[in-house]
Amino acid sequence: MATTFPITGLRSVELIAKDLAAAADFYSGPWGLQEVGRSAESVWLAGDGVDPYLVRIDAGLVDAIHSVTFAAAEDTDLADLRARMLEAGATAEGDIGAIADIGGGWGFAVCDTAGRRYRVVQGAEQRIPIDSGTSRPGRLAHVNINTTDVHRDIRFFEQGLGFKLTDLSSTMGFVRTNDDHHAVVLAINPVDTLNHIAFNHDHWEDVMKAAGRMCDAGLGIAWGPGRHGPGANVFTYFVNPFGFVVEHTAEVLLVDDSYKVGGPEDWIWPKGRVDRWGIAPPKTEECKKAQLAIPFV
Ligand SMILES: [Fe+2]
Repeated sequence: MATTFPITGLRSVELIAKDLAAAADFYSGPWGLQEVGRSAESVWLAGDGVDPYLVRIDAGLVDAIHSVTFAAAEDTDLADLRARMLEAGATAEGDIGAIADIGGGWGFAVCDTAGRRYRVVQGAEQRIPIDSGTSRPGRLAHVNINTTDVHRDIRFFEQGLGFKLTDLSSTMGFVRTNDDHHAVVLAINPVDTLNHIAFNHDHWEDVMKAAGRMCDAGLGIAWGPGRHGPGANVFTYFVNPFGFVVEHTAEVLLVDDSYKVGGPEDWIWPKGRVDRWGIAPPKTEECKKAQLAIPFV
């Protein structure tokens, strides 16, 4: 029987910005999202897909990430899932309750042992998907999280959230919670911070057009274009004006239970190569630094 996942997918990220207005201008401007809500303290931005928002930005004292939010399946028992996450080592942040956010729904938050906050939301309102024709991302593709202990974190996603491992290279673990090859990537590094956030497009050409929009705004490509190894998605990476690394991506590999989980020996690049096409130049030093710098708070 095919795996049924308690989590249907990555829903949104909640970010903190020292300059809320400038951050909102960036995500609704060159990044291409649509502002769908604003208060004195927060701005919500959506894509073309069904999720009520993809990015919430809260005003704060640092540029940081507050949480990563996952959508629970309709028939997932939230209390069971929360208990499972706590058993896997997480710390509760309040109880299960109504979500005071655009889209609403019910859910809860926990922190993992490294202090990263994960929220689970069920029953949020969905938007009617549109094709804005503006190369706006449809949804989030994945979050990439730095880890000082990749096996600890793979275990947490497997045991706590019901994810499955799809690949483990010498530098990263890839875990999935639907047909996408990965929704979360765990990058082996000396810190437990955010590495980057990837936004999904239906077609690679929209990745290029969205990258072009960034270049027009003077925000050149930090890595790419290229096609990744594990997951085989087309990518372009940027360092945004607030030090976050953000990715436009498309065409991630779809997998099922028949996928053979790869190990480090399966993912060795020929010398000088960092993508399947062999066209991506080396990542900028600025990008490498930024990929370690954004804390969870
Ligand atoms: Fe990525």
